[in-house]
Amino acid sequence: MAQVPLKKKKRRAPSPPAEPPAPGRFPAVVLCLVEKRMGASRRAFLTALARAKGFRVDGAYSAAVTHLVSERNSGDEVARWLAQQRGERGPGGDPDPGPALLDLSWFTESMSAGQPVAIEPRHRLRVTGPAAQHGWHVAPYACQRRTPLAHSNQALTEALETLAEEAGFSGSEGRSLAFTRAASVLKALPRRLGALEELGPLPGLGEHSRRVIQDVLEDGVSAEVQRVKLSERYRTMKLFTKIFGVGVRTADRWYQEGLRTLAELQERRTKLTRQQQAGLRHYDDLNTPVGRGEAETISRAVQEAVWRFLPGAAVTLAGGFRRGKLHGHDVDLLITHPEDGREAGLLSLLVSWLDSQGVILYQHSQENSYEGPEPPRGEGVLDQFERCFCIFCLAAPGGPAAGRGWKAVRVDLVVAPISQFPFALLGWTGSRHFERELRRFAKHERKMVLNSHALYDTRRSLFLPAASEEEIFQHLGLEYVPPTERNA
Ligand code: UTP
Ligand code: MN
Repeated sequence: MAQVPLKKKKRRAPSPPAEPPAPGRFPAVVLCLVEKRMGASRRAFLTALARAKGFRVDGAYSAAVTHLVSERNSGDEVARWLAQQRGERGPGGDPDPGPALLDLSWFTESMSAGQPVAIEPRHRLRVTGPAAQHGWHVAPYACQRRTPLAHSNQALTEALETLAEEAGFSGSEGRSLAFTRAASVLKALPRRLGALEELGPLPGLGEHSRRVIQDVLEDGVSAEVQRVKLSERYRTMKLFTKIFGVGVRTADRWYQEGLRTLAELQERRTKLTRQQQAGLRHYDDLNTPVGRGEAETISRAVQEAVWRFLPGAAVTLAGGFRRGKLHGHDVDLLITHPEDGREAGLLSLLVSWLDSQGVILYQHSQENSYEGPEPPRGEGVLDQFERCFCIFCLAAPGGPAAGRGWKAVRVDLVVAPISQFPFALLGWTGSRHFERELRRFAKHERKMVLNSHALYDTRRSLFLPAASEEEIFQHLGLEYVPPTERNA
């Protein structure tokens, strides 16, 4: 029942809330109780108590509130809650100083006194950062935020992402994720960070990340990051994992075996997979960024080839390019047809034809292993789409490969039936962190399982079909985030 007045009233209601109609015995004091940890029934009880003593207690926060009282919440939690109520986006968003943030002790003392007692420092909640006071509101999950491609904290995010990468190289997934989360939060800030204190209680910022941020803000660099970048281990792991077909485990094994250079690897060709050999052969090209123009050329060429076998089929450029990136490490193409099932068998025809045209330098395919709508085993399950991992030979009249007139480019071809297409598109647009956060949000906040094939509601034991990405966000109760704002 306590929910009802909250819903009826809008933020910053221009007129005083309906109950109680009288302004109360103490016109300078308007109370509001934060329900969070207090709970609805205790809040209702305390509200009735205060009203009986002549206090005005509003059911929802508005600009009229002078005393905000909570129980067992930290100052930062209340500040964050308040920032949400006030709908602030950044410092300077609201010149109004807002209500006093008070502990329940102020409330109980006032009730015993039968009138509002003077606010003393011990009554006030401690808020650690001006971000909270100014209301720098950053939602806890990256999929609840808008993260544009360009942001104002590049030096900071690069430092944190180097540490995330390094932690990944050591197999410390948790630590890697913590740095990635911290970087992602900074990417969503509306402006350049000037001092650590501005951050306040933002989500996803641990001690270690804060220390790195502090160093970069003070010295322009982090000594720890510099050390990592220069270390033999990091440099070798980076060199090896940039080979197509080489993951952290393989790179680590080679490092343990004492290998340090690509030349040393080349000497043991027989011990490399066919994929790794291709990766090594085209190492320089594959580590030269693919331009948007190149990606669009490849996308058009694939579209034309697809139409030879299945008119009406559509090719969509996904991945970073769909998020607005001008460069990428590969080209991610999704193929579908407006009639479910018509896409079956297309990929092998397509790849054979491209091969006959001399377009394919390397390819290996994965069959469709999706078993249809059965409750998914988990959101971590890899894509089961029919898929081809390719290296294309792209005519390159300019650029670094100009001398020979062609350039090797990594292309992923993924075939999705139209009924799964919105999920595939959402899953293949990224960023990787945005996807991870969507799935984490679905699991923890909605008890749903999301992957690139489907969305499953475990509470109702049913699949939630969707005809567009927008519908998937709707099912999840999330505000729609367009691709260009998914650069988390
Ligand atoms: P990419 O690794 O290609 O990333 O995966 P990107 O964002 O396009 O970055 P660059 O520009 O190429 O470096 C694109 C998306 O496809 C999903 C990932 O989650 C990512 O969001 N993906 C990739 C899969 O779902 N499965 C895969 O096997 C690979
Ligand atoms: Mn990509």
